Amino acid sequence: VQRSYDAIVVGAGIVGLSCAWRLARTGRSVLVVDRGAPGSGASGVAAGMLAPVTEADFGEAALLELNLAGARAWPAFAEELAERSSLDPGRRASGALVVAADHDDGLELRRLGEFQRSLGLESRWLTRREARELEPGLSPRTAGAILAPGDHHVDPAATVAALATAFEHEGGELAVAAEVALETAGGRVTGVRASGTPIAAEHVIVAAGAHSGVIAGLPESARVRVRPVKGQILGLRGPGGSHPLAARLVRTLRCYVVDRGDGRVVVGATTEDRGFDERVTAEGVFRLLEAAREVLPDVDELEVVTARAGLRPGSPDNLPFVGRGALEGLVWATGHGRNGVLLAPLTGTAISALLDEEPLPAELGPCRPGRFGALDGQSLALRSATPVPAP
Ligand code: GLY
Repeated sequence: VQRSYDAIVVGAGIVGLSCAWRLARTGRSVLVVDRGAPGSGASGVAAGMLAPVTEADFGEAALLELNLAGARAWPAFAEELAERSSLDPGRRASGALVVAADHDDGLELRRLGEFQRSLGLESRWLTRREARELEPGLSPRTAGAILAPGDHHVDPAATVAALATAFEHEGGELAVAAEVALETAGGRVTGVRASGTPIAAEHVIVAAGAHSGVIAGLPESARVRVRPVKGQILGLRGPGGSHPLAARLVRTLRCYVVDRGDGRVVVGATTEDRGFDERVTAEGVFRLLEAAREVLPDVDELEVVTARAGLRPGSPDNLPFVGRGALEGLVWATGHGRNGVLLAPLTGTAISALLDEEPLPAELGPCRPGRFGALDGQSLALRSATPVPAP
């Protein structure tokens, strides 16, 4: 570790590494610092859904546009990453089904499907027979399903490994530090203090996931409102190969199931407001298994391998914080909530553009870090240009 870098990224998750890789490719000296190994936070727990259509919710138009842009960025990103790292990020263009477990689910999902189509999204209602023709493992009690052919998944752990390798190939450095705090002087962020050692940087990008809102070293007025949103998730093992549980990403109103095609099956995820609690609970495990087996009864036969919890970085409006912060030198790339894996490539490109003084993708317009009142770089510049009236 040197004493000074062009950029330091705090956080070696999928978002931090995407930013770091892009920045290193522009020839900058870049250090990524984290309290753990790459992907040891939420990225290592995530299912890896690239699912803008089946994540779309009423009243979240800006998030939908952003998620669609995020999905558009993924194919080229995955290809380039595989080429640069010689590692497969595990993107599988599977399509997705949102399955109605019973009649009531069916009513709700038909409304959701109509909403998706009213937004011009690619989504189609399937009868029980059509759904079971596509996915023979679905329960005979299934009451139909939404088919979203464009939604799919990637392997987040594989992506993180590929990003770390590609980043190091570009000359980037990774460091683990028990404690990471931002350093400020003269009203600007000047670097970080990693386990007590000061390291200077022109830009510090905070991509510390759920911990971004409480990162040490910043005045209260310069913080962003990121809070942890707990998700419990199960790793199961099935036969894989020619006997997948489902060829597509399968979701219901209560869970999602990702069969990676190699025997690994993921069932997620709870959504809980419990602060920094990362315990796996009996209720969480029970509810996930109950929800998965009601539509995919063969889940009963699978081996349970892992039960984990991760903390999503939630924001008040479910949009991330991407852009310059209230202090010079401070940049945010956090608050991606349920969509961190989906939005990592777009965020990485945006942060690289930002440091090159280029415009950000239009879809990131509503993601200004200062939108809840804390000042960001832009409003500071406007303020200083405004004459202050005499008292
Ligand atoms: N992206 C799904 C989740 O956060 O659980």
